[in-house]
Amino acid sequence: MSGDDALDEAIRASHAAGLPEHQVAPNQGKLLMLLALMVCARRVLEIGTLGGYSTIWLARALPADGRLVTLEADLRHAAVARTNIQRAGLSSIVEVVDGPASDSLARLADGDAAPFDLVFIDADKVNNPVYLEWALRLTRPGSVIIADNVVRNGSVVDGASHDPSVRGIRRFIELCAGEPRLVATAIQTVGAKGYDGFAIALVTDV
Ligand code: SAH
Ligand code: DHB
Ligand code: MG
Repeated sequence: MSGDDALDEAIRASHAAGLPEHQVAPNQGKLLMLLALMVCARRVLEIGTLGGYSTIWLARALPADGRLVTLEADLRHAAVARTNIQRAGLSSIVEVVDGPASDSLARLADGDAAPFDLVFIDADKVNNPVYLEWALRLTRPGSVIIADNVVRNGSVVDGASHDPSVRGIRRFIELCAGEPRLVATAIQTVGAKGYDGFAIALVTDV
């Protein structure tokens, strides 16, 4: 319990609905909010909503006329997230988009929601390289791209790993390192969910 009713209730309702306990830890949620505040984000894109826990942290960094679009393939997760987001009083700035992220990202690229000031990538790790490409298309110099689960209790340092998620994350990090438009690093965090971390990349105008 964090003493924060909307966040506590989001965790409780997600658990009650049988969702996987894959949401970011509270200290990581607060780091997401801080980073969004630090770049004065007005438009945020999230890939992988689950029950909307990280969504609530990120949306709290936005002004009343801000916008957060979050993409979720599992309709059941999306429904739980909508309820959690509404309970947190954030429905007017958050849109939960149903469907596979690659489809939704293509539609976003055709609309006027971009450029996003911050993109949080936290869905199927095998597709992280694809999501990085979309994130670059949907941002501007000065935007921040963040990816979750880049440490996974150390498993990500194993270059010989056959785990598709580990490989997706390793490829994502390599792509960030080789991308002239990005300045990036990975930071380990430790908290209620053990050792994990975020990759954090700044989009530059090179
Ligand atoms: N960001 C959330 C946790 C997300 S867990 C939080 O910290 O609170 C990962 C989510 O990504 C799951 O809900 C899963 O259903 C979703 N997901 C997996 N593959 C996806 C895809 N191809 N497109 C969109 N969402 C996907
Ligand atoms: C797990 C954790 C995550 O943060 C995630 O996005 C996906 C899976 C896990 O604990 O397996
Ligand atoms: Mg995650």
